Amino acid sequence: MTQKLTNVDLKNYTTFGVSALATDFATFSNEGEARKLTLNNTQEILILGGGSNLLMTHDFKGLVLKNEIKGITCVEKNETSVVLKVGAGEIWHDFVLYTIEQGYYGIENMSLIPGSVGASPMQNIGAYGVEIKDVFEKLEALEIATGEVHTFSKDECAFGYRESVFKRALKGKYIITNVYFRLSLTKKLSTHYGAIESELANQGITSPTSKDVSNAVIAIRSSKLPNPKELGNAGSFFKNPVVSIEIYNKIKTSYPNAPSYPVSETNVKVPAGWLIETAGWKGKQVGACGVHKNQALVLVNYGNATGNEIYALSTAIIEDVYQKFGISLEREVNII
Ligand code: FAD
Ligand code: EPU
Repeated sequence: MTQKLTNVDLKNYTTFGVSALATDFATFSNEGEARKLTLNNTQEILILGGGSNLLMTHDFKGLVLKNEIKGITCVEKNETSVVLKVGAGEIWHDFVLYTIEQGYYGIENMSLIPGSVGASPMQNIGAYGVEIKDVFEKLEALEIATGEVHTFSKDECAFGYRESVFKRALKGKYIITNVYFRLSLTKKLSTHYGAIESELANQGITSPTSKDVSNAVIAIRSSKLPNPKELGNAGSFFKNPVVSIEIYNKIKTSYPNAPSYPVSETNVKVPAGWLIETAGWKGKQVGACGVHKNQALVLVNYGNATGNEIYALSTAIIEDVYQKFGISLEREVNII
């Protein structure tokens, strides 16, 4: 546990890289430290992982607590699967690489997602056809109000597309301390999604290992997503909207090639990146921020943007897309 620091600029603690002062700031590396810092605390609290899904629009007049709980332990193993208990402060991508090295299958498609393991259940992170709910066993979280540790099953987490109970009813009430994942010991790879198959074919790989799939995903991601170390961003700024087939068919009368993915008999998902690009925003710069040139779903900070400027850009995009397509985009990034 670090000493409480005061007036800490969060610029280097979030991947958007915008300045915002935290009145108080401390780190914790186990449950006991987290409890000590939160019990009897009267300030507002913000839990911080890697800061890769956060946009700070103002100073935080409260206590920022950075999670540094480490450790990966095998707690169960049978013939077909293994359950790993993972400290919430572990880096997600390092954890993915560890599982690949160990010969465990299940999360290779989620390679290179930035951030911490503890934040992964917050929005049920996902990529290339896999979400953490597919490998999730349970999690432990400390209730801020009481200091008690509660266990949450998959059902209790109420996972959805970029959703969980921790973003809704239990928002701000718990610190996730450990996450348990059940991974497969038998080879099970999912390569049908997006460009994975064509990327493997380009590399001349016909019988991929999990490492090959991970490398393919890394290559695809690196070709379109900006590296936050070079250009501030928080990945997809918006969710892909789910709309009725009627709305989608209406769009198709003007744009016959409008992409969509089936969700149910009555609904489809329309890529927000396509809506934003078609509305003319891709690659556009507004002041010190803008829309990424290779991925219209990603807003970027060219260096000195404020959180409010980026937020205002997102509002302009939402309004324009609504006006042009009648679809309301929802922000994915957590706005503070
Ligand atoms: P933070 O940004 O630190 O926090 C996010 C939210 O979770 C905040 O509300 C915070 O208070 C809360 N929180 C964090 N840790 C805890 C905890 N231990 N207990 C309680 N609350 C907590 N996401 C995807 O799903 N798929 C992708 O493919 C993807 N690609 C991305 C690519 C780039 C380049 C970037 C920058 C982001 C991408 N993201 C993606 C978003 C991001 O990586 C994930 O949302 C990630 O899980 C955030 O982790 P973090 O530790 O950085 O969370
Ligand atoms: N598209 C465009 N223009 C663009 C971007 C996308 O037309 O500028 C259209 C294309 O039709 C493309 C389709 O959108 O085929 C899908 O694009 P992509 O494969 O890049 O994925 P995405 O829908 O934009 C989602 C997730 C990503 C995740 C990828 C891969 C959301 C909000 N985003 O992006 O997650 O990595 O799929 O699975 O669901 C994140 O959450 O931060 C994130 C990066």
